[in-house]
Amino acid sequence: MPDLSLQGRGGAFARSIIVPGDKSLSHRALLFAAMADGDSLITGLGTGADVRSTASVLSRLGVSISGDRVRSPGVTGWTQPDAALGCGNSGTTMRLVAGILSTSHIQATLIGDESLMRRPMRRLIDPLTALGGVIAVGADGTPPIAVGPALVPGSASVSITMASAQVRTAFELAALGGTGPSTIDSPGGFRDHTERWLAAVGRGHWTSETAFTVTPGPLPAARYEIPGDPSSAAYLWATAAIHPGSTITTPGVSLNPGRLGFLQILDEMGAAITVEVTGATGGDPVGDVTVSEHGLTGTTIDGPLTAAALDELPLVAIVGAFAEGITSVRGAGELRAKESDRIDSVTAMVRALGGGIEPRSDGFDVVGTGFLEGGAVTTHHDHRIAMAAAVAATRIPDRVVIRDAEVAAISWPSFYATLEELWS
Ligand code: S3P
Repeated sequence: MPDLSLQGRGGAFARSIIVPGDKSLSHRALLFAAMADGDSLITGLGTGADVRSTASVLSRLGVSISGDRVRSPGVTGWTQPDAALGCGNSGTTMRLVAGILSTSHIQATLIGDESLMRRPMRRLIDPLTALGGVIAVGADGTPPIAVGPALVPGSASVSITMASAQVRTAFELAALGGTGPSTIDSPGGFRDHTERWLAAVGRGHWTSETAFTVTPGPLPAARYEIPGDPSSAAYLWATAAIHPGSTITTPGVSLNPGRLGFLQILDEMGAAITVEVTGATGGDPVGDVTVSEHGLTGTTIDGPLTAAALDELPLVAIVGAFAEGITSVRGAGELRAKESDRIDSVTAMVRALGGGIEPRSDGFDVVGTGFLEGGAVTTHHDHRIAMAAAVAATRIPDRVVIRDAEVAAISWPSFYATLEELWS
């Protein structure tokens, strides 16, 4: 499927759709299970290529993953890989595995696809070396990453300047292999899945709203139930919000506050939203989300809200174009370091569809006109651009061509079929 040609759908829909397992939690469940000695069970694992990248790296380290079951000798029994570990397109795989290995007995090199090989990794160096971890990146701060073996992992207290869950998690998982309690602090808005799961197994506690202290030691083998991915559900929420008279319910999605920025933005823009908490997994809340169209007006997004909606900002550009007035995103310079430079690729996407958008150094301003036009969108091999363009296409009477559309499989292989299902 090199190019996909889509055409707008008429009419309102009212559907309930179960989205795939959460990508962030799937990576973490695989890593926690692999660090533990024994058999763990994971149900509802995400189906995308990124999650498979984590599973494949762990297999190369001697962890057996078959169906729902992960069998491991524990991180101290992992085996030396015979060649570089390929992380595909997955920045989460690379950064989290680099963290764990930096304080381990393993020596490894981490590489990825063309896009991952361009992404910034220097951010890992200071926090991990403070712990006594061993890590080196390329001269320009990009992969390959060389890690371990650690000589004397210790303990550290660090404060980072970005609200990055990946850097926090890399540090926290590395700190499990340290010799004393270690603390990390950062600005707020990050997804705190790792902290909640570590606290639930007695391996850490909060010392302020944003600072978390890790207690080193082994993780237990356990059962993990992965809830639905709010970053995937967001494409369906956005589709409902831009189609007059439409409603979507996504049952059983993660309601971690660091994942709900886009929902808050839709709420501020005028969509009708209900959230029902139905449970929790490892202290991470789960529930059903319903979004109904109720008109949209432009809004301004900045600070912790930007961090909590980071992966969904391409969608904000689309709903902003169908709203009334200007929608501004700020504090999102990190978008330039994602699977593509998402400030440039979002700008190009909206312009290709006849919309008005101005890029800024740390975000963009979208002119809400209530409509977009047909055109051809280049995805820059970025799954979130492909899927945001497909959402726009559902409201565009003319043809929209999405180049390289199969890249959606990075997070949601059956995405286009699910989008069709809304009207079936
Ligand atoms: C992720 C954290 C976020 C997010 C990424 C997944 C995670 O990245 O953009 O898609 O699972 O920890 P940063 O932590 O770099 O902001």
